[in-house]
Amino acid sequence: MRSSAGTNTRNVVAVKQATALAHPNIALVKYWGKRDGALNLPAVGSISITLDTLQTTTRLQFDPTLKRDRFTLDGVDAADDSESARRVVQCLDRLRELAGVGTYADVQSENNFPTAAGLASSASGFAAIVVAADKALGLNLDRNKLSELARRGSGSAARSILGGFVELHHGKKPDGSDCVASALRDAADWPLAVTVGVISRKTKKISSTSGMEATRKTSPWYAGWVEGAESDLAIARDAIAARDFEKLATVSEHSCLKMHALALSARPGLLYWYGATVEGIHRVRELRAAGHAVFFTIDAGPQLKVVSEKSAVEVVNDALGEIAGVQDILHTGLGDGARVIA
Ligand code: DP6
Repeated sequence: MRSSAGTNTRNVVAVKQATALAHPNIALVKYWGKRDGALNLPAVGSISITLDTLQTTTRLQFDPTLKRDRFTLDGVDAADDSESARRVVQCLDRLRELAGVGTYADVQSENNFPTAAGLASSASGFAAIVVAADKALGLNLDRNKLSELARRGSGSAARSILGGFVELHHGKKPDGSDCVASALRDAADWPLAVTVGVISRKTKKISSTSGMEATRKTSPWYAGWVEGAESDLAIARDAIAARDFEKLATVSEHSCLKMHALALSARPGLLYWYGATVEGIHRVRELRAAGHAVFFTIDAGPQLKVVSEKSAVEVVNDALGEIAGVQDILHTGLGDGARVIA
């Protein structure tokens, strides 16, 4: 059937909607640097844990009456020319192309945690958009394809498609179709806890995307970072398979400190930490030296993320609470991958 204007009916769909929920993840072996910017292909593989109580809920509606895509984050409309709106539109375009539709969408995302302050809101954000759009458009894509589409939006988002311990493979194919995430271990198998010391709620000045690109172009140590990734990944994989906390702690702190040392070596140097971040590193090291199963990790922002056995949560909470610059403390465990909720 054709409309009177001769429009192909494939482009005239009724309102289609879905709501998805996704959790941020925290990389233990870090991704920093791309081998292909256009396809958003990371230069190194990465290993993360998907969280549970922190979450993004995204309601997405393809509506034939819309004249453009609309993206709202925490109730605030993203300007059409903003980087976040541009990425969301590109992500929707890829899904529309797969479905053979041209309908615009209204996307409303809500985070229950501070956005853009090193808590990986783009990871849960793109994972939720891809899963909601897949459902709304009736595509039924498999996990690999969902992960690939999420990765195009933001590298770390590929990992939030899955729950528990997750690896994003560096992949070899030029088209990036093998650069997808796979599950290493379920959350329930090794129920670690994560305590986040929120040190600033301000939006970071330099995004991960621009920070890692500046690092790739200007750090004298970038090649060494890429070369070292495979051995860190192998150690972390073994540690997770054996549930060896000490081994995971050592390799995770190494990858984190190496990523930040690399960022510092860019020109101009990128320093994401505040004083309280450094104070937190010392406290966590003291706790581990005293026999507690704890380690820290930090992403492209000042927040200190402390991974621990559940038995150590109270002692971690008390230690972070004593640091003057820690504004808030969030508690979470490990959770499931992105899913449709309505
Ligand atoms: C420090 O996934 O936000 O959190 O692919 O450019 O969107 P883009 O980058 P993004 O970078 C994450 C960097 C990191 C480490 C990690 O999550 O692996």
